[in-house]
Amino acid sequence: MKYGYFDQASREYVIDKPDTPAPWANYLGSPAYGAIISNNAGGYSFVKSGAAGRIIRYRFNEQDRPGRYIYLRDEETGDYWSASWQPVGKPLDQYKSVCRHGTGYTRIEADYKDIHSQVSYYVPHSTPEGAGADHEVWKVKITNNGKTPRKISCFGYAEFTCESFYEQDQVNLQYTQFITRTYFKDKFILQTINENCLNAVNESRVETRIFALAGAKVASFCGDRANFLGKYRDYGNPVSVEKGRLDGTLNYNMNPCGALHTAFELAPGKSAEFVFLLGQKRESQGNELAARYEDTTLPDREIAELKTYWHKKLDNLKVTTPNDNFNNMINTWNAYQCFITFVWSRAASLIYCGHRNGYGYRDTVQDIQGIIHLDPEMALDKIRFMISAQVNHGGALPLVKYTHNPGHENKPEDESYRRETGSPSYRADDTLWLFPTVWKYIAETGNSALLEEVIPYADFGEDTLFNHLKKAIGFSLNNLGIHGLPAGLHADWNDCLRLGAKGVSVFVALQLYYAFEIMIRLAKHKKDTATAKEMAELKERFGKIIEERCWDKDRFVRGITENDVTVGKGGDPEASIWLNPQSWAVISGFADEKRGKAVLDLVFKELNTRYGARLMSPSYRKHAFDGALALLFNPSTKENGGIFLQSQGWLILAEAFLGRGARALEYYLESCPAAQNDIADTRLMEPYAYSQFTESTDSPFEGRSHVHWLTGTASTVMVGCVEGILGLRPDIDGLCLAPSVPSDWKSFTMEKVFRGSKLNIKVNNPDGRECGCRKLTVNGTVMEGNYIPASILKPANEIIFDM
Ligand code: NOJ
Repeated sequence: MKYGYFDQASREYVIDKPDTPAPWANYLGSPAYGAIISNNAGGYSFVKSGAAGRIIRYRFNEQDRPGRYIYLRDEETGDYWSASWQPVGKPLDQYKSVCRHGTGYTRIEADYKDIHSQVSYYVPHSTPEGAGADHEVWKVKITNNGKTPRKISCFGYAEFTCESFYEQDQVNLQYTQFITRTYFKDKFILQTINENCLNAVNESRVETRIFALAGAKVASFCGDRANFLGKYRDYGNPVSVEKGRLDGTLNYNMNPCGALHTAFELAPGKSAEFVFLLGQKRESQGNELAARYEDTTLPDREIAELKTYWHKKLDNLKVTTPNDNFNNMINTWNAYQCFITFVWSRAASLIYCGHRNGYGYRDTVQDIQGIIHLDPEMALDKIRFMISAQVNHGGALPLVKYTHNPGHENKPEDESYRRETGSPSYRADDTLWLFPTVWKYIAETGNSALLEEVIPYADFGEDTLFNHLKKAIGFSLNNLGIHGLPAGLHADWNDCLRLGAKGVSVFVALQLYYAFEIMIRLAKHKKDTATAKEMAELKERFGKIIEERCWDKDRFVRGITENDVTVGKGGDPEASIWLNPQSWAVISGFADEKRGKAVLDLVFKELNTRYGARLMSPSYRKHAFDGALALLFNPSTKENGGIFLQSQGWLILAEAFLGRGARALEYYLESCPAAQNDIADTRLMEPYAYSQFTESTDSPFEGRSHVHWLTGTASTVMVGCVEGILGLRPDIDGLCLAPSVPSDWKSFTMEKVFRGSKLNIKVNNPDGRECGCRKLTVNGTVMEGNYIPASILKPANEIIFDM
C-alpha cells in the first residue's frame, strides 16, 4: 500500500493517505529549538535538549499523541474536526488530508465539508535577533470553498510539560504538578514554572512559556488540560471544542495547557489567516512575538527563507542518474537526513525520548561524514568539537555532554562522569572514526592546515589536531589484548559485543589498519617522514597479525574472546559469518582485490536477503558466548542477525571500491527507503528516511524497519553512494573520479560544488561497463588517468568522463 509520493521539484514528501502504518515524522528547528512533527501533527518540542528542555508533551509508544492540534468547528451544526486527520479522525471518505513534509517545515492541508484548512508548521531559520529562532509557528489559513457563508471556530491546543525535564514531567507527578500554573494575557496563555523564585536568589529556576494567537482575536481560552478535554474524554473529542467555547479555567496544581479559540465568519471563497506561536518566552517577549506575527504574511517569508537555506546546501551535489529513487535520496532525502542526524545525534525522535543527553562519540564522528560533501564548514565546527572531546590519553568520552567544556571534563575513570552519563568505560573504536572523517574533510576542502590547529583535550592539555590523531593511535596501541590485537574494551561499533578484558576485535583491527594508512598519507603531506615511517611499520606489523589471527579459511572472523574463543568461524553453529569484517577488510585496504571479491561473494551468498545483508548469520539462539549480548534480541533483530542498515552502507562502499557497480546498486536498492514506497505496510517507517535496522528472515515480519531518522545509516549509505557508486573521491590535491555503476547506467550527470568551483560532470558509459576510465576531459583537456588536480579548476568546469 502506498500512502504518499515524492514531489521532487519542491523537495517534499506528500502524504495523501493519513492513516500511515506509523507516525511519519519530520524535523523542524535548530539546536536552539527543536521540534518533531508527524503527518498527523503529533510530536513535541524542546529547547536545546530533548531530555532537559521539553516544553510540550508527547506520549511515546502510544498513539502519536498529543501534538500541535488545531480543531475546527462549524458553529451552525456543531460538527467539529481537526486540521490534521488525527486526533478527531473523521471518516476518510468524507475527510481529505494532504501532509507535505519539506525541508524544515511541514504543511498539513485538509478538506472537510467545503472548508479547506492549511496549517504550516515551522521554526524560523532566523529572527531579528539572529540565527536559530527559539519559537515555533503554526500558520493557519481557513478557506470557505462552499457556496454559503460559514461560521467557524478554530481552537489551537498545546500541552505544556509541567517542567523541562522530560522524565520528571512523566513520572514525578507528586512534585511537578505543583510548581506550575497558567495565566491568560490577552494574546496568549502564559505558563510559569517555579514562579515564586522570581526575584529570589534562585531566579534561574523560573521558566515561562507562551502559547499565543496573532492575527486574530482570542474569543475564549483555557490553561488547564482537564477542563479543555473534559471528563473521560480524549484529544479526539474534547468537551470544550464540542461546546464551541473554552471555559477560561487556568491551571493551578493540575496539568497545564495552552488552548486559544478564535471565531470568524467566512463568505464563500473567503479565507481567514492567523498564527499560533509557541516558545519558552518571558511575558514581555510573548507580547513582542505576538505583535510581530500580526503581519500574517511573515510566515510565508520565513518559510521561503527556510527553503532557501536548505535547498542551497542540498544543491551542492545534484545527480541525475537513470535511477530516480537514487537521485531523489542523494539529492534531497538522504542528504537532509544526514543533516538531521548531524544536528540531533541520537537525542530526540519518536523513538529516542531525549535521554541520551549529549553526543555519542562514534555516532557523531560518523554523522559528520554524511555532510562533508555538502557543507564542509559546518562539518569542521563539529570536527573541532569532537576532537576537543578526546581525552588526553587518546581515548574518547563515549558521551559528550551538550554542556561540554573542553579542558575541564571528567571522564569514564571518574565516578561523576559515570553517574552523569551512564557511560562506564571506553569504547575500542570511538577515536578511530576520526581518521576517515578528518581525511574526508581535508580531502574535500584541501584545508590541510587544520592538522596544525591546536585543540584542547577534554580533560586537560591541548595539542595539534595531527597529534590528537597520533594519540588516538596510541590509545589503541596501549589497549592491546591477546595476540597483540586491539582489545574490544566495553564494545566496538557493535554495542552488543563484550569480548572480555583481553578479548580482541577484528573490526577495530581493520579500522586501525586503515588509520595507519591515513596517517601515512597525512604525514607524507606534512613531510613528516619519521611519522610516515613509523605508521608504515605499524601497518605492516598489524597486517601480519591480522593475516595470522583474523582469517579462517574463507572469511575474516569477528573477534577473539579473552578465553581465546574465535567468534565468526565457518562451521560455527551460530554467528558463523559476520558482515563488517568482510566489508572493512576491503574498505581498509587490507584485502586485495581477489580476496575482497571472494569474501564479498561469500557475504552475498550467506548474508544477503531481499531487504539487505544481515549483520551476521545464523542468529544467536543457543550457542552464544558469554558477552554476546545480541542473544537478548529476537532472532533477525538488531545486532542478532538483523539487517543493520549502517553496515549496508559499508557494504555498498566496499563493492564499489571493488568496481562491482551492479552489486553495489543492488544492495543500495534493497534497503533504499524511496524504493520501498509501495510496500509501506511491510516497512512501516517513513519512505523518505532510513531506519536503524530491518527485521530479517527469521522474523515473521521480515522487512519491517525500526528506529527511524536518527541512525548512522544515513551518513554511511551517503558515503557509500557518493564516494562509492558515484566515485567522487577527493584527496588533498584534487579529485579522483571512479564511478562504480551498473552496466545499464549508460550515462549520468553530476553537478558538484568542489572547493568553490562548480563541476558539471557528464559520465558516458556506452559499452555498459561497471567501472574504469577510458578518457577524462576537463574543460577540453584530456587528463592523465582519472584524476583532476584542484589547481586546474576554473569557477565553472565541464568534465566528461568516458567509462
Ligand atoms: C546503535 C548505536 O547508536 C551505534 O553507536 C552502534 O554502533 C550501533 N547501535 C551498533 O551496535
